[in-house]
Amino acid sequence: MSAQLIDGKVIAAKVQAEVRQGVAVMLAEYGVVPELATVLVGDDPASATYVRSKQRMCEELGIRSIGHHLPADSTQVEVEGLVRQLNADPTVNGILVQLPLPKHLNEEAVLNSIDLEKDVDGFHPVNIGRLAMKGRNPLFVPCTPAGCMRLLQETGVTLRGANAVVLGRSNIVGLPMAMLLQKADATVTICHSRTKDLVGFLRQADVVIAAVGRAEMVTGDMLKPGAVVIDVGINQKADPTKKRGFRLVGDVDFESAKEVAGAITPVPGGVGPMTIAMLMENTLRAAQIALKKKG
Ligand code: GUN
Repeated sequence: MSAQLIDGKVIAAKVQAEVRQGVAVMLAEYGVVPELATVLVGDDPASATYVRSKQRMCEELGIRSIGHHLPADSTQVEVEGLVRQLNADPTVNGILVQLPLPKHLNEEAVLNSIDLEKDVDGFHPVNIGRLAMKGRNPLFVPCTPAGCMRLLQETGVTLRGANAVVLGRSNIVGLPMAMLLQKADATVTICHSRTKDLVGFLRQADVVIAAVGRAEMVTGDMLKPGAVVIDVGINQKADPTKKRGFRLVGDVDFESAKEVAGAITPVPGGVGPMTIAMLMENTLRAAQIALKKKG
């Protein structure tokens, strides 16, 4: 292997330690414990697992987490009603509505209803709008792209003037990721399923962020030698040697990519641990914003 391994577990542990310290200081100086409210609608097992992991991490860092679980057939009025109740509750600092919501619900309207200062996921259109605009800064940045930026920063990657390719244009990862890289003065290209010459773009890229959800689609021969590769994908690949019948792989074929890349994240253990760590950081900041406002 020639590439440097970017260890998300080590970097996430560093972020967690910073948050734990910040939470302890807040408790000692102000007697305040940050609080995250999670909202899960329905019974999607993957979403339930994600929410549980977020709650567990809160507990580990001294953040209070309150879980709200609504039935799958909840109405728009009921979901938004809960969000408004959490907006009005001064003990709640962050509100996390786990996505995707059941199909009958209007996700945009739910995200719109979250108080800007409690939008720890950074999905509120005003936060996304500020992220997109020059000279403006969002209160919160979406957690997975924020985690990717922290991985790049901790690895010492120079983004100014770098050619960055973001593979994927989702609201949760691809789009905010591209905006963050642009704010960091990279030259950004967003590639997606309709891109004509994907390999042509990849071969020019100093930084590649893969977030399309297609197992091992980026192979070493598509990369520029020395490229920094951040793999956001988490895909199941059939593997009869495993007890559960599959293993997790990224959007990048790690085995071939690591021979060409300069630095690369593994899956699992790369971006994954960073998402929750950044949520914890955002929740602490939300509590700090609330304290400052109170005076
Ligand atoms: N679903 C997949 N990723 C996320 C995330 O970062 N936040 C929320 N709320 N839902 C998600």
